[in-house]
Amino acid sequence: MRSTSRFLASAPTSSVRAPGKADRHADGDCVRTTDIRAAVRGQVPDVCPPFVTDRIRDRHHPELTMPRKIRPKTILITGGASGIGAETARLAARKGHRIAVSDVDLAGAKAIADELGGGSFALPLDITNAAQWEKALDTVWKTFDGLDVLINNAGVVHPGNARSVDNAGHQRTIDINFMGPLKGMLAVFPRMLAQGHGQLVTVCSMSAFLPSPGLASYSASKHALRAFHHAMGMEERKGPIKFTIVHPTATETPMLEQEAQNDDTALAFAASPVTPQYVAEVIVDAMEKAKLEVFMPQDRARWIRNIGTNAQMLRKLADPGIEAGVAALNARRAAKG
Ligand SMILES: NC(=O)c1ccc[n+]([C@@H]2O[C@H](COP(=O)([O-])OP(=O)(O)OC[C@H]3O[C@@H](n4cnc5c(N)ncnc54)[C@H](O)[C@@H]3O)[C@@H](O)[C@H]2O)c1
Repeated sequence: MRSTSRFLASAPTSSVRAPGKADRHADGDCVRTTDIRAAVRGQVPDVCPPFVTDRIRDRHHPELTMPRKIRPKTILITGGASGIGAETARLAARKGHRIAVSDVDLAGAKAIADELGGGSFALPLDITNAAQWEKALDTVWKTFDGLDVLINNAGVVHPGNARSVDNAGHQRTIDINFMGPLKGMLAVFPRMLAQGHGQLVTVCSMSAFLPSPGLASYSASKHALRAFHHAMGMEERKGPIKFTIVHPTATETPMLEQEAQNDDTALAFAASPVTPQYVAEVIVDAMEKAKLEVFMPQDRARWIRNIGTNAQMLRKLADPGIEAGVAALNARRAAKG
């Protein structure tokens, strides 16, 4: 059993790490050491069984991968006015993709779209409203003549221990974080099927694996979102639509700052937050490579997932984790004055 200090160790903050040994099973793929050795010797076509895919080779042995030209894509992103959504839009646009930046905050979305240029534009979209989804998709189809990728990113948090958040707060968290992306996936799916291709990228959270004190309905919404994403992906496995899900860890955005105002969320601060630029790199990379599922940070992801399914360990983690989180939160507040 690894110690909690491993969980509390600081996370990468600047760039996407190169694939490493610890990532071997990071997205649930099966890979054998003998296959890896064969791949290193350049024997992939001769010796690899069918389950050793390009994706596995790319992740473990980038040196064997031929540079690939990524076709510019059209992307609709939700919650694009702030934080992770805004950084993802910026990076994707820099890489030549065209972005429809949507948000309930239309002025914020417009500011980002103006910054991007190159055929990107802003549009209003409250993801909880099915009629608004249809209207937004009509606009996107008319402007882009179709859509390659929907990035379901918008989300909210209502920090505080479960019994101090009112029913409306819990309901809003579920409506936006779970029902919002669900409505978007169901609205866009028939349109993507009709055009014969498409990709659904879900920005979920490591809270989909680790229930977090002070963020109970947030964690629940992300558990539900992951389950829905994968269940639908399994149902549609034989069709042309790709499913990608990414799980950011704590990230320096207005959402995290909102959490920082509430003492109950201390556990979320036990590990150092990553930057939204780092998360954007991971999301755009996962989208371009059509990865199935990506966790952050990858070296601790397996451990976190194991803890999440172990009730005894969750209880054991609570005291030292919250204690470390309180210290980190106090230091953060002191640094910000
Ligand atoms: N920041 C973190 O620590 C963290 C960690 C893991 C996962 N995430 C997830 O990443 C995503 C982005 O979070 P962020 O940290 O960038 O947050 P953020 O608060 O910076 O941005 C969220 C954006 O969503 C928009 N939004 C809120 N409700 C909406 C609605 N009903 N319809 C459309 N847009 C709406 C907001 O206006 C805002 O622009 C969320 O799904 C969040 O759960 C964040």
